[in-house]
Order: sequence, then C-alpha cells, then structure tokens
Amino acid sequence: MVDIDWSTLGFAYSPTRSHIRYHWKDGAWDGGRLVNEDTITMSVAAGCLHYGQEAFEGLKVFRQKDGRVVAFRPDRNAERMQRTAVRTVMPPVPTEMFLEAIDRVVRDNIDYVPPYGTGCTMYVRPLLIGTGPQIGVAPAHEYDFLMMVMPMGDYYKGGIKPVRAIIFDDCDRAAPFGTGDIKIGGNYAASLLAHEKAHGMGFPVELYLDSATHTKVDEFATSNFVAIAKSGAYVTVKSRSVLPSVTNLSLQELSRDLGHAVEVRTVPYEELREFTEVGACGTAVVVTPVYEIVRGDEVIRIGSPDACGPRLQELHDRLQDIQFGRAPDPHGWCREIK
Ligand SMILES: Cc1ncc(COP(=O)(O)O)c(C=O)c1O
Repeated sequence: MVDIDWSTLGFAYSPTRSHIRYHWKDGAWDGGRLVNEDTITMSVAAGCLHYGQEAFEGLKVFRQKDGRVVAFRPDRNAERMQRTAVRTVMPPVPTEMFLEAIDRVVRDNIDYVPPYGTGCTMYVRPLLIGTGPQIGVAPAHEYDFLMMVMPMGDYYKGGIKPVRAIIFDDCDRAAPFGTGDIKIGGNYAASLLAHEKAHGMGFPVELYLDSATHTKVDEFATSNFVAIAKSGAYVTVKSRSVLPSVTNLSLQELSRDLGHAVEVRTVPYEELREFTEVGACGTAVVVTPVYEIVRGDEVIRIGSPDACGPRLQELHDRLQDIQFGRAPDPHGWCREIK
C-alpha cells in the first residue's frame, strides 16, 4: 500500500506508478504500454508545441462503499474527446480504447485509489497530442494518447463553501464560432491572465459572458453555469461556446428524477439577479455555490455566503451518493474497473 496522508491531499499533480501511452502512426493506434517515468521525449518541432494540437479530459474514479472501484461516465469523456479531436484534426481515440486505457492504468495504480470514507478520489487526466514534427501549419503526422492518474483530496473538507465570482468586460474566453465547446489547452491559456487577476482580487472563479455582445451568460472558466429559478426550475446555458459538462448533464438528469423542470436556454445577464441559487459545476467539485457576482461597480447578491442553497446541496449530495455507491445507480453511470 502506498504511504499517503489522505487528510492533507489537495488538487495537485502527484506522480503515481505509471501512466499509459498509445502512439498513432500511419493511420492506426498501437496497443499502448504502461510507462513508469512521468516524462516524455518528443521532437522539438512537435505539432502540439507549435500549433496547439492538444486535447485533454478530466474524470474521476471512486472507491465505493462496498469496495468496488468505478469510473464515472467515462464514455461521455471519450465522446467529448472525440469531438475535440475532430475539431483540431487529430485522430479520435475510439471509446473502446479509451475505456481500456482507464482499466489498465487504474489497475496498475490501484493502491493509489483512495480508500472509501476519506472523501478522496482518483483523478484521471487523458491527453491527446500531436507529437510528429510539423513546421508548416498543418496537422501533425504522429500522435500520442496518454492517460495519467493521481489521487485527489476532498474538495470540501469543511463542508461546501459558497464563493464570489467576477466578470471582466475586457477579456473573452471563446469566440462565437471558436473552440469554447471543446476541451483544448488553448481555451485555458486564453483565460489564464483573467484567472490570475481574479485570484489576486480574491475571486476564485470568473464568469464569462458571450463574447459577441456581453449580454448573455456563457460559463465559468473551468465549470458550467447552473441556477435555480424562482419557479423551481433547474436552469443552465445553451450556447455554442460552452463546454458540454458531464456533471451538468448528470445534474439535469437528477433534477428530472426529482420532478423538477430543466431549462437549457439562453440566460440573459439581467436574469442573474432573479435566481434563488447559482452554482459552478464540474468534475472536480460537483457544484460550487456562487453567492455574489461582481461586474465593475455592480454587485449581484444571490444567496448566503455561509451555506449552499438547498437545491444545489441536494443535487451535490445525490450525485456523490451515486458516485461513492451509497445510493442505487439507476442510470448506470458508474462503470466498474475490470
Ligand atoms: C470550461 C469548462 N466548463 C465546464 C467544465 C465541467 O465539465 P465536466 O463536468 O465534464 O468536468 C470544465 C471542466 O472540465 C471546464 O473546463
């Protein structure tokens, strides 16, 4: 067993026994191999270094109450990575290969899957990169698909903490017909400066409005926008430049299970002050309540700074209960590592 203090684990990189790596050349993927070093050697002219041919994903593996080890909806991440690959002219990783990669790399690092009861999980980070040399602007001729795993701490050790969000009107993340709906490093590079500025001002998250008009909500830098309307409906954003979040999709399905209406639609900025709860949702946190949104001199107050609203708390707990095997999994979202 590895010697890890699960109580102090955060959300940070830590090397494990291995990652798995597949290589694509001449139109086909090889059979993949487990690699013990956490470094990579590639051409100085690799396509990912020069023209940003890089896609990634993020998902979690849970050790459940009965000891089973499961990945949460990995087929969804496989599909999203395939869409990203098509958009950035890289060879898509077939779903079967993606799932096989999870099985192999998690099995090889099984002692790094945190014990049930610690609140910790194993984070899985798939990465697809153009590694073939490419100096003229064009897709590379060779690619690597890597999947690394690392144990990750319980994000909400002391209970869910609501946060403040900020909107900057001088920084956009994704162009209207750009790449906001796929998961490439470039989207995050585009938001890093605003992210650092927000952190420096004491805001853990930034909220982006649509870049064409700055009148509609898009999403947070690393998570989707969700809200509860006065009518009780679960509201989330429909936009061409938002990343389709697996967590958001799951929360929508859980909301319907609970008998609540789900609205996936345009959310005007002006509507922000109407919501009873607002949250940022994604794999790492499930949902972070947002109690205040600041834009220039304007401050929109939504909920309590001390506690998550009841509806988002319920959705958070329901999802975690399924993920950790404390409740039935009626939709078949948890896939056991074989
Ligand atoms: C921009 C962005 N939106 C939304 C999400 C949430 O997606 P998911 O729930 O699939 O983790 C993420 C995180 O992956 C993200 O980076």
